[in-house]
Amino acid sequence: MGWSCVVARAVAIFLMLSRASALTSDIFAAGKSDKEILDNLLKNSRYDKRLLPPVDGVLTVNVSVLLLSLASPDESSLKYEVEFLLQQQWYDPRLRYSNQSHYDFLNAIHHHEDIWLPDTYFIMHGDFKDPIIPMHFALRIYRNGTINYLMRRHLILSCQGRLNIFPFDDPLCSFALESISYEQSAITYVWKNDEDTLRKSPSLTTLNAYLIQNQTIPCPIKASWRGNYSCLKVDLIFTRDRAFYFTTVFIPGIILVTSSFITFWLEWNAVPARSMIGVTTMLNFFTTSNGFRSTLPVVSNLTAMNVWDGVCMCFIYASLLEFVCVNYVGRKRPLHNVVYRPGENPVTQRLPAVLSRIGIILASPLGDKKRESTGAAELVSCTACTGPGACTHTANNGGVAEPCFVQVRKKEPPHPIRVAKTIDVIARITFPTAYAVFLIFFFIHYKAFS
Ligand SMILES: *[C@@H]1O[C@H](CO)[C@@H](O)[C@H](O)[C@H]1NC(C)=O
Ligand SMILES: *[C@@H]1O[C@H](CO)[C@@H](O)[C@H](O)[C@H]1NC(C)=O
Ligand SMILES: *[C@@H]1O[C@H](CO)[C@@H](O)[C@H](O)[C@H]1NC(C)=O
Ligand SMILES: *[C@@H]1O[C@H](CO)[C@@H](O)[C@H](O)[C@H]1NC(C)=O
Ligand SMILES: *[C@@H]1O[C@H](CO)[C@@H](O)[C@H](O)[C@H]1NC(C)=O
Repeated sequence: MGWSCVVARAVAIFLMLSRASALTSDIFAAGKSDKEILDNLLKNSRYDKRLLPPVDGVLTVNVSVLLLSLASPDESSLKYEVEFLLQQQWYDPRLRYSNQSHYDFLNAIHHHEDIWLPDTYFIMHGDFKDPIIPMHFALRIYRNGTINYLMRRHLILSCQGRLNIFPFDDPLCSFALESISYEQSAITYVWKNDEDTLRKSPSLTTLNAYLIQNQTIPCPIKASWRGNYSCLKVDLIFTRDRAFYFTTVFIPGIILVTSSFITFWLEWNAVPARSMIGVTTMLNFFTTSNGFRSTLPVVSNLTAMNVWDGVCMCFIYASLLEFVCVNYVGRKRPLHNVVYRPGENPVTQRLPAVLSRIGIILASPLGDKKRESTGAAELVSCTACTGPGACTHTANNGGVAEPCFVQVRKKEPPHPIRVAKTIDVIARITFPTAYAVFLIFFFIHYKAFS
């Protein structure tokens, strides 16, 4: 009785085993539906999602990134929105199925909960735009056991720009991937060994974001957060639209400052015109600069912008002060009853005299003082002559009237109006020159054109 029982049991067990083996070879055969294959692959008795895929050595997860869209809320922002597809690929020998199956891959998206997945998380400064929902990923199991896990993510990154050279900086945005629970000895992330691991979607859309450079690297040891965990890093380097800043900030600024220089070409006593130019350019500059500032991040180290605003303000203010100064000097009463001749240009008339004086001094340092004094003499006043006719008459007569006509100016102060005009003439040259020097220095120093 007992003997036959044991035999029967053994036979039953043998039958069960053979049936099971027949089953396992059958279920993946051609003609089976993917439902049957998946159900069998993921049966509790043969697959446990809590365990790492049993590979020899370290499980390698191949990662690549496909950029879908890049955006920034506005030109001067340091926030960049990056939308991408993250592809992770690894090998799970438990999920191989038959070579004869007519499916290239099984779509396991609805078994998301039942399959071992790497616990990848993002290291970054910023936010997730939206939570990940099942519509936004794909999960494929290939015949040879390779699993392809595709995930759409939308990150809002806080990037690092060198604000001291804003707006000529190139913000750097980076984020990293790391496994949260498996150390480097269990899981290694590697960038997929393709041509470029960071690809652009053919229909990549960008808004205010100009990607100029990218880097996909393993995390540098120093920057890695926990040392023993495998980690990959993506660096995206953006640039700002220089043309935007030139059209909204720099060119209007240059126009306002040079407009304030118009005042030097007006009459010294054109009070309404000159004060209007000075005040309106100054107010206008304040308005445009404040309007632009209100769109900038409120930070203290906007050095380049501060230099720009400060120096332009100084030029406009100085040209206004120059007018006040000229007007004040011009209105002073002359000290020695000096007659002002309107036709005289103080600089161009003085120049030949000064040059000839220098020339004479160079030619004959100890030469006759008479020639030097007559050469250097200026037409100041003619005490002996009563009218211009008398003067020309005596002048035509030659050397006879010379002592009357030409007088050597001793240390008489120039007429105040002449001083005022001289200040204007000097300003006409120095202000634009100084401003041009500043512009060259500014744009070279802050590498505006690189
Ligand atoms: C990962 O990439 C390596 C080479 O870069 C390749 O040999 C390996 O087969 C890839 N693994 C998977 C699961 O695709
Ligand atoms: C799959 O079948 C092909 C022939 O059809 C064979 O060459 C290949 O080695 C098989 N691969 C596996 C993993 O069995
Ligand atoms: C597995 O198959 C897929 C698709 O056919 C292929 O891309 C992948 O390289 C294969 N992996 C291995 C390890 O052979
Ligand atoms: C990333 O940089 C590499 C070379 O530096 C380049 O080939 C690739 O096109 C760049 N990718 C993107 C999305 O710009
Ligand atoms: C990393 O792991 C090694 C041994 O695997 C251990 O000696 C070391 O202390 C670990 N480092 C950190 C930062 O956990």
